[in-house]
Amino acid sequence: METELPTIFSAKRTSFVRTSVIREILKLTVENSNILSFAGGLPNPDLFPKDVFSSVMESVVRENISTAFQYGDSSGYEALRTQIAEKLTDVSWVSSRSITITHGSQQGLDILGKIFMDSDTNVLLEDPVYLGALQAFSPYHPNFFSVPMEPDGPNLYWLEEILSQNKIHVFYANPSYQNPSTYTWSLEKRIKIANLLDTKEIILIEDEAYRYLDFEGKVYPSVSSFRKRNDLTFVLGSFSKILSPGFRLGWVVVPDLYRNLFTAVKQGNDLNSNQFSQVVVSKLLKTMDFDVHLHSIQSFYKGQKESLVSLLGKYLPEVKFSLPEGGMFLWVEYPKGTSKELMEHCLKNGVAMVPGTEFSPASRSSSFFRMNFSFLTKDVMEIGVKRIADVYRDINT
Ligand SMILES: Cc1ncc(COP(=O)(O)O)c(C=O)c1O
Repeated sequence: METELPTIFSAKRTSFVRTSVIREILKLTVENSNILSFAGGLPNPDLFPKDVFSSVMESVVRENISTAFQYGDSSGYEALRTQIAEKLTDVSWVSSRSITITHGSQQGLDILGKIFMDSDTNVLLEDPVYLGALQAFSPYHPNFFSVPMEPDGPNLYWLEEILSQNKIHVFYANPSYQNPSTYTWSLEKRIKIANLLDTKEIILIEDEAYRYLDFEGKVYPSVSSFRKRNDLTFVLGSFSKILSPGFRLGWVVVPDLYRNLFTAVKQGNDLNSNQFSQVVVSKLLKTMDFDVHLHSIQSFYKGQKESLVSLLGKYLPEVKFSLPEGGMFLWVEYPKGTSKELMEHCLKNGVAMVPGTEFSPASRSSSFFRMNFSFLTKDVMEIGVKRIADVYRDINT
């Protein structure tokens, strides 16, 4: 029986909590195995290096038991922080001390929301935006502003308009292979926007979750690496897409000034991130040829992307999308009909994708859908695209 009790007893901030349709769809696809899902954002399990995982885990249990099974440093396992500082970040001022390991980069978003956002804080988002960031920030009830995105980054006219008319405090951005649009900021926009943020004294929360998923192995310099105001620059990274989300490990590059505060807030969350995962990942980075591993992920996703692109061209030539340089998604415009209707009919016809409305900061209706290509095989993708094409034709005739 549903009661009013949760809303009577819960804190006010809970009324701002956003649910995730993606999680709901994932639940549906688990309950009903006939639904083919382009909705998730799951790395392909065939890319997990299972043999290396099992030998490294075994050696951690044998050789590192006293560290791996204990509480650890709230900022993270020192060896892993050093590896991240040396290999996986490009801001010049970084050292192991500026890295804090988090429970996935998602925890970093929550902690930064807690530190920087009040109900009168002006926060700028990309439109569309990563839904998990909206979920992390919404309970703090900031004033959200959003800048329209183009395939090469934010629309500069609108960005300058917003920044000149409002005192923006924080800009959250996902500049490489963005989730959901897969749009990637050009080098010119990275430099220009870094300068603009310096001039206007705006905190940048730069989400680099997909940094290493370029199909050709290119790595874009972070926007943060062009900033002079290091004290206003936070960079989030993640092992989820390059090793496995099961470890639940990410990191945040935290400027000196905020290091103690960040660690104290994290202690309130979880004391420290999963110590066993941290020791395992540190050993994995020492054991594996990481460049070869990244290359195998990049070329696999490139092939998957090409499959979905050619299937859409064959069965749904009327849909539109720009070709991504990397990542796991196509951001596809279905020009006719409403996305709600298309979504409902697709689910009934055994296929799922995520409607663009979910990624709109203002929940505006959208003719776009996010389609994931990392998970399904080409044959299964073909059945799924045919199902979508049937539904699309049905509701548009
Ligand atoms: C853009 C973006 N940022 C952050 C995350 C959180 O990832 P994790 O907590 O697994 O590091 C995701 C997950 O899909 C994402 O797409």
